[in-house]
Amino acid sequence: MQDGKKSNEENTSLIQVIRVVQTTQNSLKNELHDYKTIRLSNSKTARLRRSNALANIIRIEEFQSNHGEEVVIQGWLYDKTEKGKLIFLQVRDGSGIVQAVLFKPSLPEEIFNAARKLTQESAVIVTGKVKAEQRAPGVPGGYELEVSNLEVVQVAEEYPITPKEHGIEFLMDHRHLWIRSKKQWALLRMRAIVMRAIREWLDTNGYLEMSTPILTPAAGEGTTTLFNVDYFGEPVYLAQTGQLYNEANIYSFGKVYCFGPTFRAEKSKTRRHLTEFWMLEPEIAYCDLEQLMEIEEQFVTHIVQTVCRDCAEEMKILERDTQQLLQVAPPFPRISYDEAVEKISEIRNKVEDPELKQALSLEWGSDFGSPHETELTKLYDKPVFVYGYPSAAKAFYMEPWPERSVVCKSVDLLAPEGYGEIIGGGERISDPDLLLERIRHDQLGEDAFQWYLDLRRYGSVPHSGFGLGVERTLRWISGIHHIRECIPFPRTMGQVYP
Ligand code: 4AD
Ligand code: MG
Repeated sequence: MQDGKKSNEENTSLIQVIRVVQTTQNSLKNELHDYKTIRLSNSKTARLRRSNALANIIRIEEFQSNHGEEVVIQGWLYDKTEKGKLIFLQVRDGSGIVQAVLFKPSLPEEIFNAARKLTQESAVIVTGKVKAEQRAPGVPGGYELEVSNLEVVQVAEEYPITPKEHGIEFLMDHRHLWIRSKKQWALLRMRAIVMRAIREWLDTNGYLEMSTPILTPAAGEGTTTLFNVDYFGEPVYLAQTGQLYNEANIYSFGKVYCFGPTFRAEKSKTRRHLTEFWMLEPEIAYCDLEQLMEIEEQFVTHIVQTVCRDCAEEMKILERDTQQLLQVAPPFPRISYDEAVEKISEIRNKVEDPELKQALSLEWGSDFGSPHETELTKLYDKPVFVYGYPSAAKAFYMEPWPERSVVCKSVDLLAPEGYGEIIGGGERISDPDLLLERIRHDQLGEDAFQWYLDLRRYGSVPHSGFGLGVERTLRWISGIHHIRECIPFPRTMGQVYP
């Protein structure tokens, strides 16, 4: 009895302590909320109502851990339906979409009426209780919000992108708004996960990130796709690659990567070409072609597996069948350029469509075009390495094949299911005389390359590296038809707005 009494007393004082802590927390929350309300009230368009100051502001992705709690969601109206005494608001907040349910009898009239007047993309702060509801639509779904309060931050003007079908040109010109649509949202979230996975693998495998310049005095990848910039009266170019600078960086750090925007004045209007894209470029000292392929297959496997694990919702929204992606694991098949040419020729012989037959014609010595890669990679359910391209079809820095210098130690990685090249790379020339000869042969201008030649004069070693295009990779993993959707604000031959 005595013990029981004592522990009761202890409980009481504990409860008092908890109350004090809670009161402090609540007054903090109130202060924060007041601050927010004042801040928003400064806006002319704000029509604010105090929400339940005790509720926490959370993100929709945190619903599961807030089951049964009263919470606040800050977002925008994606869609709305009315059914008698009920209004269903689909509210998105950047992390997901939730169905917020307003039940007329349990709400002040002005709140219900305000909800009724909401237009698509209106900014709203919704307070309510998180309730499990299997049938509730949304992302991730399975929960809905029983609304107890609604603050209207802005009633949006008539929104140009409606659920009806719009032409692609219209959508591209409204890209700044289009990125809010569910599919684009899912795709660009997936892009961020791809980029995170890229860094994650490199950072945990001993690579050091080095920033390489965007303004460059020389062509890294051929002279036909250069963007010129007037640099105080001197002509310079937007970087086509960071590789050459990373070849300097390896002599200080061993294994490095650069990751940034890359520019090509590509006059190609294909589903694979942007004029500004993001490229990841690792460079490794004491690394040959064979070792490079092993690095690439581990790296790409990590990206694919991470995206499959972390983007299940996005995959669903994009209706991507992930069956083949889940099979991606080392080793990837390796075929030579010669074998690839043979395979393409076999495919061509079987093709009946005259247009495709024409597109598939290929002379030994030229690089593959989109149609060749598309047809070739349909034969594979994993990415495939094609190595040993003709030297004439590749950049000046490629190490020639021993005893067969018409081909080089280059390797491209082609994504399966018809997606084609996602990586280009290879072993670099390490001999100074040979490198100079190639620079002269390609008429690249010796002066601008003196620093690059220095790298072969002071401790030159065999080294290799590759470049992976983020948007090409995302296009494959997401199964999206056109590369222009794989970057928030695409730059193509026909598009620089917005
Ligand atoms: O094959 P590329 O031209 O190789 C290089 O630039 C090397 N310097 C890379 C290196 O070894 N460090 O480009 C590499 C990758 C391609 O496989 C492709 O994924 C992407 O960059 N890429 C493009 N992506 C979109 N639009 C374009 N116009 C692209 N050009 C290349
Ligand atoms: Mg290439």
